Amino acid sequence: MLCSTRELLETSRRNVYAIGAFNIYNLEGVRAVVDSAEANFSPVMLQIHPSALSYGGTGLVALCLEAARASTVPISVHLDHSTSEKAIRAALDAGMKSIMADGSHLPYAENLAFTKAMTQLAHARGAAIEAEIGRISGTEDGLTVAEKEAKMTDPVQAVEFVKATGVDALAVTIGNVHGEYKSEPRLDFKRLAAIRAAVDVPLVLHGASGLPPATIAQSIQLGVCKFNVNTEVRQAYVSNLAQSLQNSPLKDLLDVMQSGIDAMQAVITDKLELFGSTHKQHLHQSPYADMLAASAV
Ligand code: 13P
Repeated sequence: MLCSTRELLETSRRNVYAIGAFNIYNLEGVRAVVDSAEANFSPVMLQIHPSALSYGGTGLVALCLEAARASTVPISVHLDHSTSEKAIRAALDAGMKSIMADGSHLPYAENLAFTKAMTQLAHARGAAIEAEIGRISGTEDGLTVAEKEAKMTDPVQAVEFVKATGVDALAVTIGNVHGEYKSEPRLDFKRLAAIRAAVDVPLVLHGASGLPPATIAQSIQLGVCKFNVNTEVRQAYVSNLAQSLQNSPLKDLLDVMQSGIDAMQAVITDKLELFGSTHKQHLHQSPYADMLAASAV
């Protein structure tokens, strides 16, 4: 069933687990996420990066929305890391109700102004906004400790930012990076606890690929209720495709695609277990459930 991100995050926060938000690019990705979630009775989020949106267009959004509607588990469809009003408007026009307005590359005051404007736009269209302060990079190699800390989310600024913008969820930067961790990930849990104590919207952690189980568990205990996952699933897909084609280049295309789906599903299932969202489907309610119940009488 198609669910709102707000409902998914509030319910997971109340029950101390987290929602996996997986970046998808095509039908195989959507199938892998939905099949894993259904097999594990787990809520989940389908996430489209703006570059995937410009590639797949409204067809990709329609595919995700339809897959969510047809699914037996609660699913929301989210636009990831959008730095432009144009892409956000395109996503809203295509029917998406969950958007990350990412102004984290901007100076703080400009990030605040951009996020506030995008939140007003999204709320007017019934959509929820995730935003970020601090700056997550691809890798932290070569930075001094002071440089790393300067890019992290400041708890005091987080309070002001959430209040001034009216965002529905906040992505935090506490030592997490996108892509592969070049050394053992070390998250600043003291900072996370301070942010949790200071702001009351659900917290999001990007760059969940490669985070050890204990780090994920502690992040959930300290209030993270959405993890973004891309790299590990993409790597599983691409290396499976390469292997399939190397082993037998003339293999039936459907078999090649199914094998890619299976490879992604193994990673996704593993993440759903780590996030604690398996067998939690029954805790969620479709925003349309009341309406459907009323019309059935
Ligand atoms: P990874 O690619 O490191 O899993 O991060 C994904 C992400 O944060 C997408 O927003």
